[in-house]
Amino acid sequence: MIPAIPSEVVTHMRSAERVVALTGAGVSAESGIPTFRQAQTGLWAQYDPIELATPQAFLRTPRLVWDWYTYRRQIIAAAEPNPAHYALVDLEQHYPTFTLVTQNIDGLHWRAGSRDMLELHGNIERTRCFECGTYAQGWDEEGELPPRCGHCGGLLRPDVVWFGEGLPERELHLAYTVTQQVQIFLSIGTSAVVQPAASLPLIAKRAGAYVIEINPEETSLSVVADCWLQGQAGVILPELVRQVFNLSENQEE
Ligand code: OAD
Repeated sequence: MIPAIPSEVVTHMRSAERVVALTGAGVSAESGIPTFRQAQTGLWAQYDPIELATPQAFLRTPRLVWDWYTYRRQIIAAAEPNPAHYALVDLEQHYPTFTLVTQNIDGLHWRAGSRDMLELHGNIERTRCFECGTYAQGWDEEGELPPRCGHCGGLLRPDVVWFGEGLPERELHLAYTVTQQVQIFLSIGTSAVVQPAASLPLIAKRAGAYVIEINPEETSLSVVADCWLQGQAGVILPELVRQVFNLSENQEE
């Protein structure tokens, strides 16, 4: 079923030159990666992600937290980018100024080909020392887990932002900067509850941008956005690209 894209949305997107897209876990849902607040399954069903993704949890039960991220890395390694990721690459290639700001840590945007990208919450495929921050390239999976830092002997951890931790300053500063200068702000597949990312669409709106939300569920942003396109990102985004770029049904960009 081809989603209906209001002509006003197409008009705004065709006339824009500066676009920011903020993505959340919903963009990776169609790649088979559970969203952050979706109930966990199997062995991890008994755990709330919010209780595992904290420095306190890691210091209290380092092996449990390490194993949870190993499990998530395995899910991600088996996943592929979906049409939503590739449609965002099309948008990046089309607009003179396009920035993808993602809350996702799965690296699927990079694998799809996105390059002008800011990872606000880090990347699960990178590993660093909890103590000295030195990045680790490899470790003995059969040895002590979590592995130890070769530089200071501290415990290694995924290079992701945990609850209670600050976001990477460079990425956050750039996200604020580009958000205040855009004509179109897309909020895609995010529950729009976690700060500071959830403020970005509001900042864009205040700066005069046309704000489009893509999500099957209503969020607190839906009433603020200029248009809420209700549906899955993997269905709506490719259709949006087709209509904005005047592509025929089966023509690729
Ligand atoms: P959530 O799990 O909070 O929200 C996922 C959103 O995606 C929900 O609003 C769903 O309705 C929507 N969704 C589900 N399937 C979709 C689809 N096929 N297409 C479009 N949308 C879909 O995940 P996030 O909003 O990304 O931070 O969570 C933000 C942050 O909260 C995460 O980055 C994480 C967590 O704290 C850190 O880990 C630091």
